Amino acid sequence: MISNILMMSGVKSLKDVDLTGKRVLIRVDFNVPMDGHFNISDDSRIRAALPTINYCIDHKVCSISLVSHLGQPKKGYEERYSLRHVQKRLERLLDKKVEFIDNIETLKSENSHCSVERIFLLENIRFYEGEKKNDPQFCKQLAELCDVYINDAFGTSHRKDASTYGIADYVPIKVAGFLMMKEIEAFTKALEKPIRPIALVVGGSKISSKITLLSSVMPKIDKLIIGGAMSNTFLKALGYDMQGSLVEDDFVEIAKEVLKEASSKGVKVYLPVDVVSTDSIEAPVDVRVTPVQDILEGFHAVDIGPATLKLFSEAIELSNTIIWNGPMGIYEISQFSKGTFKLASIIAESYAFSIVGGGDTADAVEKAGEKEKFSFISTGGGASLELLEGKILPGFEKLDRK
Ligand code: 3PG
Repeated sequence: MISNILMMSGVKSLKDVDLTGKRVLIRVDFNVPMDGHFNISDDSRIRAALPTINYCIDHKVCSISLVSHLGQPKKGYEERYSLRHVQKRLERLLDKKVEFIDNIETLKSENSHCSVERIFLLENIRFYEGEKKNDPQFCKQLAELCDVYINDAFGTSHRKDASTYGIADYVPIKVAGFLMMKEIEAFTKALEKPIRPIALVVGGSKISSKITLLSSVMPKIDKLIIGGAMSNTFLKALGYDMQGSLVEDDFVEIAKEVLKEASSKGVKVYLPVDVVSTDSIEAPVDVRVTPVQDILEGFHAVDIGPATLKLFSEAIELSNTIIWNGPMGIYEISQFSKGTFKLASIIAESYAFSIVGGGDTADAVEKAGEKEKFSFISTGGGASLELLEGKILPGFEKLDRK
């Protein structure tokens, strides 16, 4: 039977179609990390989209409309999620003017006047209700913006949203961008004929969206290493009092099931034995390392401790393929970043084929100065986990096939 990855690698790319004179809509993933002043701290996802955008410019398209989300806005416009904050960086990286457009109607009237090198950046597509609902009317409205749809948002390709999925039903030509193809190639190498043992390292705070996937990845992996905020929910499931730490109570039962599933599939699970904890995340006065059973009342676990790092590093050194998804603590705050940065060095120094998945993890690896030593840095976090599960990602599903 043909695998999910081989199915996906059979889609047409933008190289397979004639783009000249066409209005092109590129779904990109510009969901980039920013500080409180809207400074972009890691622009890798913007850089990763440049080959596709430049190819369209070189092939004399009529216009390019860039569509992306930023964050997870709940009810319409929120300034912190505006893609306006991305416009200048994109212009600098492309060395071209990019016109920011704050609504779909204006984009529709602007992008029909063909003029070489007109590049539009639409405001955050998640400000529209129809996006997350994959509303057919909204999909049609988006489809009217283009003659060719290019999906290059690998990081969002596991979402059945209007701009990543439904739009493809209404556009005559729909293909993958270079980033999508590059990601699939790298995962084909890691997952089609993997060199075992395979270790999956998970962390980060997007617990609810990742934890449910863990049971189904068990058949593909040999070791599951859990750290960061994700591990708090597991430790609670094992009966530890995590005090003020971030725990998703609704997922404690699922964590128990994941542990059961791991043991029935023979997957070895590694959890923190000690943590760095603090009295306050914003204004820490007391920061200390404690065994997981001794977190002080009201303290928050914010990083893995040194004994945990040693435990994780032994598991990593004996693995031949490592997939890392999610930081080990609040690495953005330097006091709580040691566990994540040291883990980055340990994986980087190992002889294993190593893949990092997800915006935050890629950012952490870059900040740790270890980026070059990883075999592949994926722009997709959740998307790469779903690949590992054996799913066909919705972002590939409706694209034209070769
Ligand atoms: C990501 O950062 O993982 C992608 O941009 C997808 O974002 P989402 O989890 O908000 O859909």
